[in-house]
Amino acid sequence: MATNITYHASGVTRSERSALRNQRGLTIWLTGLSASGKSTLAVELEHQLLRDRGVAAYRLDGDNVRFGLNKDLGFSEADRNENIRRIAEVAKLFADSASVAITSFISPYQADRDTARKLHEVATPGEDSGLPFVEVYVDVPVDVAEKRDPKGLYKKAREGVIKEFTGISAPYEAPANPEVHIKNHEVPVQEAVQQIIAYLDKQGYLP
Ligand code: PPS
Repeated sequence: MATNITYHASGVTRSERSALRNQRGLTIWLTGLSASGKSTLAVELEHQLLRDRGVAAYRLDGDNVRFGLNKDLGFSEADRNENIRRIAEVAKLFADSASVAITSFISPYQADRDTARKLHEVATPGEDSGLPFVEVYVDVPVDVAEKRDPKGLYKKAREGVIKEFTGISAPYEAPANPEVHIKNHEVPVQEAVQQIIAYLDKQGYLP
């Protein structure tokens, strides 16, 4: 970290900002294998929050972010750690602005997801509250994801053309205690999104 830097707090507290915008900032963190359906779920969730509930929501997606902000990163363990660290920081900025950040990244390591959670939930000096972090496990067995293989990546991984492919030659650590667990090969997308929205409503997170 750089030296000689000073943190400048906002003149508006997090609670004031939420009250003024009439919505609460939070992060919905989708995690799951490639081809588990994270992006499809995220798109529909964003749409429903915006359209049906009038909630400002914004999606950060694995492939998309790797075209820009994280285009210097690959898929080694260290690069995935850095990918998730940056996404967690960006999601927190959205949540801090009283928006709903929806992230869809494989995020295969529990420790990285725990760090992202802590970054949100633990208020740092100058912040009047933490931010909710909702971990959603988009659970599809690897053989189902491999059969889907919409981008042909599992095939390439089996052939050894792609190295360190999650679920085949790189690990995926399933969440131990996700707030929402979706068995995404068993339910249609609308039902999966309803599961997430029902959780948000139960917690009183949505206006
Ligand atoms: S991670 O593990 O969270 O850093 O990955 P993420 O940023 O979500 O990027 C996953 C997408 O990158 C493509 N891809 C790979 N995935 C896993 N392993 C390897 N080696 C790999 N190489 C490329 C793939 O399209 C992933 O997209 P999704 O939407 O998950 O299928």
